[in-house]
Amino acid sequence: MVKKTIKVGLLGLGTVGAGVYRLLQMNGAQINRRAGAQIEIKKILVRDPGKKRTTEVDAGLLTVNPREILHDPEIDVVVELIGGVEEARTYVEEALQHKKFVVTANKDLLATAGTGLLQLAREKGLNIYYEASVGGGIPLIRPLKYCLGANKIARIMGIINGTTNYILTKMSLEGMEFEAALAEAQAKGFAEQDPGNDLEGRDAAYKLCILAGLAFSSRVRYEDIFIQGIGGINKRDILYARELGFTVKLLAVGEEFAERGLALRVYPALLPLTHPLASVFYENNALFVEGNAVGEVMFYGPGAGALPTASAVAADLIAVVRNINHRVENGIMEADFEQKNVVPVESLSSAFYLRLQAQDEPGVFASLATAFGKENVSLDQILQKRNVAGTAEIVLVTHVVEEKSFNLALNRIQKTPAIKRIDNVLRVIES
Ligand SMILES: NC(=O)c1ccc[n+]([C@@H]2O[C@H](COP(=O)([O-])OP(=O)(O)OC[C@H]3O[C@@H](n4cnc5c(N)ncnc54)[C@H](OP(=O)(O)O)[C@@H]3O)[C@@H](O)[C@H]2O)c1
Repeated sequence: MVKKTIKVGLLGLGTVGAGVYRLLQMNGAQINRRAGAQIEIKKILVRDPGKKRTTEVDAGLLTVNPREILHDPEIDVVVELIGGVEEARTYVEEALQHKKFVVTANKDLLATAGTGLLQLAREKGLNIYYEASVGGGIPLIRPLKYCLGANKIARIMGIINGTTNYILTKMSLEGMEFEAALAEAQAKGFAEQDPGNDLEGRDAAYKLCILAGLAFSSRVRYEDIFIQGIGGINKRDILYARELGFTVKLLAVGEEFAERGLALRVYPALLPLTHPLASVFYENNALFVEGNAVGEVMFYGPGAGALPTASAVAADLIAVVRNINHRVENGIMEADFEQKNVVPVESLSSAFYLRLQAQDEPGVFASLATAFGKENVSLDQILQKRNVAGTAEIVLVTHVVEEKSFNLALNRIQKTPAIKRIDNVLRVIES
């Protein structure tokens, strides 16, 4: 039986929840037309119903009791926008147990508990929609799942954390120091007061779990992702990178190698200034996908914010309503994914950038070349950048080498008496 009205319970009325509420008011007629039914928000779970909110909401809709949503037989869809893992997981499980479809924007939840939740949804003949979990308003989930589903994808490479991209853009375009750029990101609300998840790469790794799973039809575990954050990046690294024809970006990279498996890494890298991702600035996000039929495709746009994220959540609502009324989508394809092998990071290959401090004396370049040569690491460029009180700053770029060999060469360099300190090591994307 086709329902004329689909009742929805919202969990959360923060940035995204209020955005969804506002968007349903703003574009309600069009959204309902596309959904083929009236979407009605019946209840909204919050922590503090007395809180002053920027979006005006009928106080009668608010509740602090999750059961009023999760156990209400009239509610068909639960939209989880509270964030975090434990409570969100309990509520999503309970919603599925009570035969409700789920829409969520929660990447932490999906990356850590997604497999089990999707399995449960499948067992119950339901579905979980999560377009807003990665890249805010940028369509990424459906394109990877369906539109590019006929391709073998060799690589996905994305800028999927707005906070770090904002900081690196400020350092790169305006010459800001890291701390000042972070403080500005926090003042503008792009970075949390505790920005650890963003700066240390964990947020991007959660998102890579979701994207790589869909791109490579595999279950992807967060623990299998190599993660390096942007904490060690200095303004001079960005300056030198530019002189060499590169910019520095925090990248989430997933690759599939025939017969070897998946490579899953989040790291700050030197990226050629000519690469399409090099011109993704400030809080914007983008994903670059290489498919064997489509070629190279890039998705670009606002990776967060109330209305951009609400745009993705409301699109999921349109899909879920059509699913409820017409069974347009049957089965959850993610539940069929096997877990593919993951290649250890030491056996992957990359070019490297290295910045170090050495005594300014004859023979230093030769001893560096010898240390690299002994591990079969060949150098592309070696430059002396400045000299302060007898200490020379040296920048090196290697050709592509196996990470294991590079690390052995690095050990040798650390033991070379003329080398005072290694300041930074970054991977280099060549194309
Ligand atoms: N912000 C973005 O731009 C963005 C972009 C993409 C994805 N996301 C994801 O969207 C989700 C929501 O993010 P947000 O920025 O909207 O968060 P937020 O502003 O912190 O809002 C969270 C909301 O959930 C409510 N809440 C939290 N814990 C609760 C609990 N235990 N019981 C009842 N209510 C609870 C809060 O109630 P009170 O209002 O009463 O405190 C608040 O309304 C997260 O998973 C986030 O990762 C956010």
